[in-house]
Formats: sequence, C-alpha cells, structure tokens
Amino acid sequence: MAEEKRLICASGALEDGGKGVRFTVDRNERDVPAFVVRYRGKVYGYVNECGHVPAELDWQHGEFFDYSKLYLICAIHGALYAPDTGRCLGGRCQGRGLKPLPVCEVGENIFLLLDKPNGQA
Ligand code: FES
Repeated sequence: MAEEKRLICASGALEDGGKGVRFTVDRNERDVPAFVVRYRGKVYGYVNECGHVPAELDWQHGEFFDYSKLYLICAIHGALYAPDTGRCLGGRCQGRGLKPLPVCEVGENIFLLLDKPNGQA
C-alpha cells in the first residue's frame, strides 16, 4: 500500500526543546489530539494523552517540555516522558508511555505518515 502523508507544519515551527505543534489524528473516526516536538534535531510525534489518565499533556498550549528541555512533562501530575521514544521515565505514568505517531521531515516541512486508506495514521 502506498504511503501517504499529511502536512503538519513547516520545519521552522519547531525549535529544539521548544514549543510543540498540536494537530489531530483520526482514530476510529474520531479526531484525537496529537503533537510534534523537536528533540536533538529530530522530530517526534505522539498522541496528546498522558499514560496516567487520558488528559492532554501541555501545560500551556503547545508547551510539552519541562524546564530542562530534556523531558516531556504532563501538566496534571508531572509524569515525565522521553521525547525520543515516549517512554515513561517517572511519575504517575507508571510504565505507560505515550503513543508514538509516524512523522517525517522532508525538505522544509513536517508530515504525518498515513498508511491506511481512510487516512488514519
Ligand atoms: S494525568 Fe498526567 S500524570 Fe496524571
């Protein structure tokens, strides 16, 4: 099956360890919040849902990194996640990581990769 992609944002919208860009993905015909961030030069995408309870992570719109810029942090109870894998590193996520999304950077843009005929990621 041919892989399709959907534009999320321009590459310049993501600074390393900086603000993320929010978007939505189709999950079972429902729009689910998601985000991309840049970490150590690479772009990573996740469903915007904490492993503790289904709450969005950002402490302000698009703010996913903690002050150190080394971890993604949940605004509700402070669970910490690895930006490059989504793995739970501490706090109430208790081993439940973020759900990764396939994203890529091509040229000056960042895309969500779609591999299903109905456009789901
Ligand atoms: S909802 Fe994220 S740590 Fe509790």
